[in-house]
Amino acid sequence: MNLASTTTTDDPAATATDTVRLRPFEPGDLPAAHAMSSALKWPHRIEDWQFALSLSQGVVAERDGKVLGTALSWNWGADYATIGLVIVATELQGQRIGNRMMSALLDRLAGRNVLLHSTVAGRGLYERLGFVTTGEIEQHLGELTALPALAGREGDRLRPLAGADVESLIAIDARGAGMPRGELLRRLFSQGKTVVLERGGEAAGFAVIRRYGHGDAVGPVAAPDVDAARLLIAGCCRHTEGLLRIDVEAASGLPQWLESLGLPRTGGVNIMVRGRVPERGPAHGNWALVTQAIG
Ligand SMILES: CC(C)(COP(=O)(O)OP(=O)(O)OC[C@H]1O[C@@H](n2cnc3c(N)ncnc32)[C@H](O)[C@@H]1OP(=O)(O)O)[C@@H](O)C(=O)NCCC(=O)NCCS
Repeated sequence: MNLASTTTTDDPAATATDTVRLRPFEPGDLPAAHAMSSALKWPHRIEDWQFALSLSQGVVAERDGKVLGTALSWNWGADYATIGLVIVATELQGQRIGNRMMSALLDRLAGRNVLLHSTVAGRGLYERLGFVTTGEIEQHLGELTALPALAGREGDRLRPLAGADVESLIAIDARGAGMPRGELLRRLFSQGKTVVLERGGEAAGFAVIRRYGHGDAVGPVAAPDVDAARLLIAGCCRHTEGLLRIDVEAASGLPQWLESLGLPRTGGVNIMVRGRVPERGPAHGNWALVTQAIG
C-alpha cells in the first residue's frame, strides 16, 4: 500500500496532526495496537489482533515513532472487503486522522463493496465517506444459565468436522455471507471447534466456537434456517465452560432466545455498507459474526 504521500513536515507553523504520518501496519505494531484497544476496554487479546492482522492489510497513524491510530481491511474475493479495528488515540480524535486512515484504505479497496460494523463514535465519519446503515448487530455475552436443548428439525443431526467437509462448508459459508472467505474458514477450522449440521445425510451448515477476548466466541454460524442456527449454537454451547459471546443480527430472531440462555445483550453496532449489499442465498444464512471487525 503506497502511503508515501502522507509524510511529515518541518514547517514551524505545522499543527499537531501535520507531523502525523500514515504507514503500513506491521506485526511490530501489535503491542501498541493492543494497548489502544485495551484502553477502550475492548476485549481483544494480542492473539486476536495477531489473527486479525494475519489475514488483512492495515495502516497505522504515527507521530514521533508512536502509534496513535490503527485501521485494518480484509479482502473477500474480488468484489468485497471489510474494514475494522479503526481506532484513533483520544488525544488525536476529531482532527481527521480517522478520515485519513479510512481514505487510505478505501483508495486501496477501490472498486470493491465495503462493509463495516460501526460504533456510535464512528458513524459520522463513515457516513461522510459514503457508508449507509443497513442493519444492526447485537452483542450477546454472559455465562450460560442452562444448556440449550439440541432441538432441531426431524432428521437434523450434529457431528464433528471431518476433513472431507472443508470445501463444502466453505461453499455454504460463501452463499451465506455473500462473499468467499476460504482462508479465514480454514484458519478457524484449525483453531476452533467446529460443529457440523447434517440434514438429509448432507452437510447443511456449521458453527465454530473458539477462544476470543475474555472467553469463548461462537461464529460464524452458517445454516439454512433459524432452527438449524439454534441447533448449531446449542451444539457449540457444549464446548464452553466460562464467558460466551455471540454477535447476531438484531432482526435474526436469535436475540430473545440467547437472552433466555443467560446471554444478555451487552452492546450493539450498526451494519454499514459502501456499495452493494452482499447477496445472500435464500436457504443460506450467516447467523453470527466471526468478529465485528472481520465480519
Ligand atoms: C471513531 C474514530 C476512529 C474517528 O476518528 P477521528 O480521527 O476522531 O475522526 P475524524 O476526525 O476523521 O472525524 C471525526 C468527525 O469529523 C468529521 N470529519 C472528518 N473529516 C472531515 C472533513 N474533511 N471535513 C469535515 N468534517 C470531517 C467526521 O465526519 C466526524 O464527524 P462526527 O463528529 O459527526 O462524527 C475515533 O473517534 C475513535 O477511535 N473512537 C473510539 C474507537 C471507535 O469507536 N472506533 C470506531 C470503530 S467502528
